[in-house]
Amino acid sequence: MNIPLDLGDRSYEVVLAEGARHELAALIAKSVPKAKVAVIVTSPALRIQPWFDIESGLVQHVVEVPDGESAKNFATLELLCTRLANLELSRHDVIIGVGGGAITDLTGFAAAVYLRGIAVVHIPTTLVGQVDAAIGGKTAINLAAGKNLVGSFHQPIGVLCDFATLTTLPERERRSGLGEVAKCWLLEERRASDLDGTPMNDLVTLSVSLKAAIVATDEREGGARALLNYGHTLGHAIEKLALARDVDELRHGEAVAIGLAFAVRLAYELERVSSEEIANHDDVLSTLGLSGRLPSHFATSALIEAMGHDKKAHHDLAFVLPGSEGFEVVSGISPEVVSQVLERFRGEL
Ligand SMILES: NC(=O)c1ccc[n+]([C@@H]2O[C@H](COP(=O)([O-])OP(=O)(O)OC[C@H]3O[C@@H](n4cnc5c(N)ncnc54)[C@H](O)[C@@H]3O)[C@@H](O)[C@H]2O)c1
Repeated sequence: MNIPLDLGDRSYEVVLAEGARHELAALIAKSVPKAKVAVIVTSPALRIQPWFDIESGLVQHVVEVPDGESAKNFATLELLCTRLANLELSRHDVIIGVGGGAITDLTGFAAAVYLRGIAVVHIPTTLVGQVDAAIGGKTAINLAAGKNLVGSFHQPIGVLCDFATLTTLPERERRSGLGEVAKCWLLEERRASDLDGTPMNDLVTLSVSLKAAIVATDEREGGARALLNYGHTLGHAIEKLALARDVDELRHGEAVAIGLAFAVRLAYELERVSSEEIANHDDVLSTLGLSGRLPSHFATSALIEAMGHDKKAHHDLAFVLPGSEGFEVVSGISPEVVSQVLERFRGEL
C-alpha cells in the first residue's frame, strides 16, 4: 500500500509492502532524476542482514556509522558528513538511511545540513522507524544535555517500509514499536476488542496513515502534530531518569506504554473520561503484550521534575489527554494532582 503525505511541493509517499526496499531505484529515478551517486547510510550490524540487498540504480556507496541512541551525536554527524564530502556527493545526489530511528534521524539531519540540504530516502527497519521515526521529516541528534535537542525539519523524498526487514528485529525492539502502535490505536479512539487478530502489517499501515494525516495538517508541530505525543510526557520523563542512571531498562515504546496507562488515569481524575476508558487502555496494552506498570524505583518527585522539563511543557505540566471533544494538549495541570494520580497509579497495578 502507498500512503501519500501531502505537503505541497514536499509531498511524498510512504510505501508499505513486503519487498518495498526494491522500489528504491524507481523512486530515485522519478524523484531525483539528476542524481548520479547514492550513499546508503547504515550500521555494520544491519549491513549483514539477509534483506540488505538494496539497489539504488546509481553509482552506490555504503557508509557505516555507529548505531543506537548513544551514537546519535555531533561526532557521528561529522564522521558521516566527512564521508559524504570524501565521496564528492553533490547537491543533486541522494542519501538513504537504512536502519531504526537512530540511523534515520541522523541520516535525515545530515541530509538537511550537508551542502545546505540534499535528498534523502528512508528505509526504516524497526517498528518504531516504520510507524513513527522515518515519517514526517523530523530529524535530530542528541546533546549531553538531552535527546533530540539539535535538529531540523527535512522531509524525505520517500519512505520505503519493507515488512521483510522486521523479520530480523529482536523481540524487545518489536515491543518498543508496539508502544507507538498502541498510541495510534488509542488516538483513533479504537476499542481493544477490535485489536485481537488484526495482522501486524495492518497495524503498521493504520499507524502510518494516522501519522501521515496529522503531519499533512501540521508539518511543524504548531497544533495537531503535538497529539502524537500522547503518552510521551511521562514516557519521556521515565526515559530521562533511566538514561541518567545509565540503565537500558526500558525502550522508548515501553516507556510510552506506561505513559498511556497513566495519561488516561489523569484524564479520569480531571473528569474528562469514564473509567471504561481506563479499562480500554489497559486492554489495548495487554493485548499487544505491553505492560503499563510503573517500576517502583522511579520516584514521583523525580518524575514530576523531569516532566516539568518536557519540551512541550514550557515549564507547566502539560499532557495530551482524551476528553469528550477528543484529544487535546492540556497545560497548567497542578503538580499536586499529577503527584496524587502517580501515587495511586503506582499502587494500583
Ligand atoms: N524523527 C522522529 O519523528 C522520531 C520519532 C520517534 C522516534 N525517533 C527516534 O528514533 C530513535 C529510536 O529508534 P528505534 O526504536 O528504531 O531504535 P534504534 O534505531 O536505536 O534501533 C534499535 C536497535 O535495533 C537494531 N535494528 C534495527 N533494525 C533492525 C532489524 N531489522 N533487524 C535487527 N536489528 C535491527 C539497531 O541496530 C539497534 O541496535 C530514537 O533516537 C528516537 O529519538 C524519532
